[in-house]
Amino acid sequence: MIKHVDNPVLEVHDLTVSYDRKPVLWDIDLTLPAGKLIGIVGPNGAGKSTLIKSVMGLTPNSSGYVKLFDKDLKQVRDRISYVPQRESVDWDFPASALDVVLMGRYGKLGLFKRPRKADRDIALDSLQKVGMDAYAGRQISQLSGGQQQRVFLARALAQQADLYFMDEPFAGVDAATEKAIIEILREMSAKGNTVIVVHHDLQSVTQYFDWVILLNMRLVGSGPTSEVFTTELLQETYGGKLTLLSDVGDLIRRERFPNREQFDKAQKPK
Ligand SMILES: Nc1ncnc2c1ncn2[C@@H]1O[C@H](COP(=O)(O)OP(=O)(O)OP(=O)(O)O)[C@@H](O)[C@H]1O
Ligand SMILES: [Mg+2]
Repeated sequence: MIKHVDNPVLEVHDLTVSYDRKPVLWDIDLTLPAGKLIGIVGPNGAGKSTLIKSVMGLTPNSSGYVKLFDKDLKQVRDRISYVPQRESVDWDFPASALDVVLMGRYGKLGLFKRPRKADRDIALDSLQKVGMDAYAGRQISQLSGGQQQRVFLARALAQQADLYFMDEPFAGVDAATEKAIIEILREMSAKGNTVIVVHHDLQSVTQYFDWVILLNMRLVGSGPTSEVFTTELLQETYGGKLTLLSDVGDLIRRERFPNREQFDKAQKPK
């Protein structure tokens, strides 16, 4: 199930990405609608991070093309925010949490301009949204892993972009913070922003996302969660990892067929 949309915020056409001549993403064709909270789901090594990096122009060897807001990346760079997967970030530079969040404002400031009070206010407000305002002055290297992750999310929020890519933003973040952040992302998408999140917890996919992308080197599915997040397509995405999938199967069943009888009827072979 691959649903294509008109006027996409992101269009990926015939994208193939290779590392050392070995393709890790193969012939991806994808269009995504505006104003949705979108999950990218697939096993380790499926190419989820690579897909985002490639869209952000960070992979050297790719063929095909990508359009964002119907334009090339460099024309719309300041409308896009990217939060990399955590382990790929260098945490050793000397900067406070507030400095890191203020970096989110640089694209808006223009060259050589110093942040104004308005920028500081936005940065502080973003820190507050992720519950990190009390740590504004703390060196980033002196924060816990989950706290660092929250600061980087605050930086993305401070950017006030139209399109967000977040690569596993909830890795190492506690449940209460995850909930608070997903609320913020919901609000952002309700305002018309598009938020694309790499996510591993299959249990929360139906709760969190309007739209799901299933990836395993190839694009297995892309569309509204109710149409794409099916046992069948998950099987195709994850292969034979059945113990995991049977749990998810139960979850999907419960959500779609709250009445067990109805479900059994629907399942009967014709
Ligand atoms: N810089 C690189 N050089 C060579 N191979 C790479 C490089 N980065 C990623 N790969 C390979 O490309 C494939 C896809 O990697 P990618 O990081 O996109 O997966 P992922 O879906 O994000 O996985 P995870 O869930 O573990 O984050 C993997 O097989 C990985 O080993
Ligand atoms: Mg990844």
